[in-house]
Amino acid sequence: MKRPDGVELSSGSRHTRTYRLHAYWSKKPHEVLRECIETLTESGDVVLDPFCGSGGTLVVAAMLGRRAIGIDRSPAAVFISQGALGLPPAAEVYAAWSSLLEKVEADIKTLYATVCHRCNGPATIRYTVIADVLKCPNCANEFSADETSKVGGGKRCPECDAKLPRSPERIGTSAEETSAECEAGCQPRAFKRRHDDRNPKAAAFFQKHDLAKIREVDAMRIPAWHPSDRFPRGLKTAELFGRGIENIDAIFTPRNFTSVAILRQAIERLPTEQWRSMLFCLTAAITSLTLKSQHVQGGGGYLPGMYYIPPVRKERNPLFSLRRIVGQVARGAEEMHSGGKFHPEAWVGLGSAADLSVVGDETVDFAFLDPPYSDKIQFSELNFVWESWLGLVEDWGDEEIVINRARGKTLTQWQDQVNLVATEVFRVLRPGGRVALTYDDPKRGTWPVLLGALKRAGFDEVSTDNSYTVKQQTFVQRRSPGASQQDTLTVFGKP
Ligand SMILES: C[S@@+](CC[C@H](N)C(=O)[O-])C[C@H]1O[C@@H](n2cnc3c(N)ncnc32)[C@H](O)[C@@H]1O
Ligand SMILES: [Zn+2]
Ligand SMILES: [Zn+2]
Repeated sequence: MKRPDGVELSSGSRHTRTYRLHAYWSKKPHEVLRECIETLTESGDVVLDPFCGSGGTLVVAAMLGRRAIGIDRSPAAVFISQGALGLPPAAEVYAAWSSLLEKVEADIKTLYATVCHRCNGPATIRYTVIADVLKCPNCANEFSADETSKVGGGKRCPECDAKLPRSPERIGTSAEETSAECEAGCQPRAFKRRHDDRNPKAAAFFQKHDLAKIREVDAMRIPAWHPSDRFPRGLKTAELFGRGIENIDAIFTPRNFTSVAILRQAIERLPTEQWRSMLFCLTAAITSLTLKSQHVQGGGGYLPGMYYIPPVRKERNPLFSLRRIVGQVARGAEEMHSGGKFHPEAWVGLGSAADLSVVGDETVDFAFLDPPYSDKIQFSELNFVWESWLGLVEDWGDEEIVINRARGKTLTQWQDQVNLVATEVFRVLRPGGRVALTYDDPKRGTWPVLLGALKRAGFDEVSTDNSYTVKQQTFVQRRSPGASQQDTLTVFGKP
C-alpha cells in the first residue's frame, strides 16, 4: 500500500550484503534506507544522518549518488562509518588479508597449535569450549556449567539435582572441548575431543597438548601494544563489574587478548589502504573473540546490546573468525562497488546531534533520524571494547542521548537533548525537506516526547504508523526470545 509520503517499506528482513559489513547494535535494514532515500530525495541531494552508527544511511546514500553527512558521538561509530565508506573493491580486501596473513599467520597459529591424536601430526585449534565452574549451594559439589541440565526452565545440579539459583557461585573456569583441524592430511581434517573423551588417546592428547598450550600462552608476555582501559561504570557494564571484569583484557581469554594484540600490531604495519580495511575487519570480528561468545551445539554467536557472559563459551581462533569476516566484508564491498565506480561524496564526523554547527542552514535535503531508544541500548558502554582497541577511549557518555539510571541520566535531560536535536535538524533542513524518524516502540513513554520535540521545532507529520521487521541474525539471537523486533518509520516535513 502506498503511504502518503510515497515510501513503500519492504519487510526489512532480507538483509543485503552491505548490511553485513560490520556488526553494530540496532542497525537499520539497508533496503528500508534505500526505499526512504530513493523516494524522498533525488540524485545529488544531501542526506544527513546525525546518529549514523554503523554508517548504513551513508553507504546507501552514496550508492544512490546522493551526498551524505554522517555524525555520531561514538568514536567507534565514526570509525566504522568511515571504514565502510572507504572500503576498496573486494579484490583489494582479499589482497590486504593475504598480506596480513603473511605477516601473522605463523605467530597466531603457534598460539593455537596442537597435535592430532589420529596421526600425531600438527593440528590447529579452531575453538576451545570453556565453561564456568560452579558450586552447588545445596551439596557443595563443584561442576562445570556444561554439565548442568536444563529442566523445566531452571538449571539443576548434576550431582544432587537441586535447582540452581539464577547466578550460582562461580569458582573458576575449565576447558571442556576443542575443535581442531589436522594439518598433516587426516580425512576428515576436522576433529573434536573432550577432557573426558571416550577415546583414551583423544582425552590424553587433550590434557597433554590442548591444556598445556593454554597454560603456556597464558604465561606468555604479550608481545605487542594492547589497551589497558578500565570499563566505564554504567547500566550494562555493571554485569561485568559484578563478575570481576574491570579492565578490557578481562573480557578476553589471555590467549585471545594476546592474539588480538598481535593482529592489531601487524595491521598497523600494513600500507595505509590495507591497514584501513583490515582494522575494519578486526573490529567487526572482535565481539566474537570475547567472553561474550556463546557455545551452543551446532552454532554460536552472542547476545547483542548487553555484556552478558554466557556460562559456556567458545574461545575462537581469530584467524578463523577473521577469514569469515573478511569474506563478508569483501562481499559487502563488492555490492557497494557494483554500480561501477564508487566515489562516495560523504563526510563523517565525531559530534553530537544536539549541535550540528558544522552543517550550514538549509543545506540538507533529507535527514534520517535513528536516535537511541531511551534506555534500551547503552552505546557508550557497549562501544567501549571497540574504542579501547582503537585507542579512542574518551568519556563521551555525558553527551550521549540516552536514559541511564546508573549514570544519573534522566528523562528530563533526554528530553532537553532531543529538543536541541529537533531544532538543529530543522535549521539545517531546506524548506520542503523531509525527515524520516525510526523508533522501536510507539508505546514507549519517550515516543510522545520525541514527536513533541519535532512538532515544536516546526515539523509537520507527513505519515505515520508503518512498521518493518528488524531481524537479528546469529544462531544465538535466532534462539533468543524477542529476536525479531518491529520498528516504525515516521516521515516529517519542513514547511
Ligand atoms: C540506534 S543507533 C543508530 C544506528 C544506525 N542507524 C545504524 O544502522 O547503524 C543510535 C546512535 O546514536 C549515537 N549517539 C548517542 N548519543 C549521540 C549524540 N549525542 N549525538 C550523536 N550520536 C549519538 C550512538 O552512538 C548510536 O550510534
Ligand atoms: Zn591427523
Ligand atoms: Zn548439588
